[in-house]
This record gives sequence, C-alpha cells and structure tokens, in this order.
Amino acid sequence: VRRSRVAAPTPPATIAMASVEELKKATGYKSVDDHVTSGMVVGLGTGSTAYYAVERLGQKLASGELTDIVAIPTSIRTKEQAESLNIPLVSLDTHPVLDVAIDGADEVDGDLNLVKGRGGALLREKMVEVSAKKFVVIVDDTKLVPGLGISGAMPVEVTPFCVDFTVARLLELGSIAGCTAKVRDDGGKPYVTDNDNYIVDLYFTEPIADAVKAGEEINALVGVVEHGLFLGMTSEVIVAGADGVKVIK
Ligand code: 5RP
Repeated sequence: VRRSRVAAPTPPATIAMASVEELKKATGYKSVDDHVTSGMVVGLGTGSTAYYAVERLGQKLASGELTDIVAIPTSIRTKEQAESLNIPLVSLDTHPVLDVAIDGADEVDGDLNLVKGRGGALLREKMVEVSAKKFVVIVDDTKLVPGLGISGAMPVEVTPFCVDFTVARLLELGSIAGCTAKVRDDGGKPYVTDNDNYIVDLYFTEPIADAVKAGEEINALVGVVEHGLFLGMTSEVIVAGADGVKVIK
C-alpha cells in the first residue's frame, strides 16, 4: 500500500505548465477559427500565444480549408515561423489595410486597453495592428488587470543614441511620475529590437492614472520611437481560463 501511495502523484509543476500552454493554444486556435476566412490579409502577432494562431493558420492553409491568404508578420521570429509553415507573406508597403490582426498582450484592462511589448516587438505590432479593420487579442486570464502598468514592465522602444538622455527625459514626465526605468538587458548588453532600437522598461507601483496622456507625453519625446500602450485599438479579446474560453468585446 505504501509503495503505491508514493508512486501515484504526478509532479504539480508539469500539470501547471501543460495547462498554461493548453490555454494559449485554445485562444490562438479560436482566433483563427472565428475570424480568418479565405482571401483575407492577416496580421500575425508575436509571442508564445500568437504562436498558436500562426500554427493554426498554417494548418488551415495546408489542408486547403483556407485559401488566398496573405499575412504580415510583426517580428522576425513570427516571419520565420510563418515561412516554415508556407504562409504567404506581404508587407504594409503593399497591403496597408489588413482585414484582421491577431496578437497576444501582456496586460488587458477593463476597457480592453493593453500593455504590449514585453516580447520586444511592440513597434511592428502597433504599426500592423493599428492598420487592421479588426484587432483580436488572445490571452490567458492571468493577463486581465484592473489597471495598466501593474503586472510588470511597460516597454518603450527608443533610439540607441544617448539612451541615458532619453531615460532621464522619460523620468521627468508628469504623467508617469514615480515610475522607475531600466534599459532592457540581454546578457550584459542592451536588448536590441528587430528595428535596431533599444527597449526602456518602465515599472509602476500604481496603475497608470491617465494612459492616454502618458502615451502622448512619452511619444512626444525626441528619442522615443513608440510606447507599449495600445489604447482604443482592440476589437475583441479571446480569454482562456480554467473555466473555458470566453470572448470580451
Ligand atoms: C510581444 C508582445 C506579446 O504579444 C506579449 O508579450 C504577450 O506575449 P505572450 O503571449 O508570450 O505572453 O507584445 O512584443
């Protein structure tokens, strides 16, 4: 009896990791099943959740269930995944209006405003997603927050030239007073984005009080390329949690 009691349990960490991955897959697959039809121009997001939307799109193209799709990737990582799945790729230069864009997020607030960019792809993501007729966000329920900026970094993409100068100017802004800033590190060197820029991660102890004003002030600084607040862009959020997958509009 004692022997079987010792052998029976499955390690809890394995269960938890598998289920988070299953949630990401569920929301990623549903986004393509619900929103992508043949002939569309589709924006492909970046990250571990968007990965599953790209995978699903590749499957449906390979099976012939979807045809005449072209897609615009939001990072080199996603471009490589899409190419490996034979998804035809185009760019905003030739296709400036997308039918739908699908992407993950780091935070989603009650008004469906987002923090994005902890994966470093915020500039291309914003350029593509702001150009889509519909922007579908796919997350697990850990990403739902009562206010933006409280679960981790709010990333800002900046030009590498005199980055300490730009950080100092960011810290002077009234709309984000009290935050701290850190140039994102990549093994002892600054992290470099797909656009050869750096990321400054801003950390808050309280939710950002006025995200619109914060976004305006941040983007008005010379040296800033773009911030990770995605405001008023989301069409719907597909949220996966322990109790199933739901849609928030
Ligand atoms: C990358 C992003 C990602 O969409 C965001 O970080 C969420 O990623 P994940 O689905 O891996 O949690 O904004 O720049």
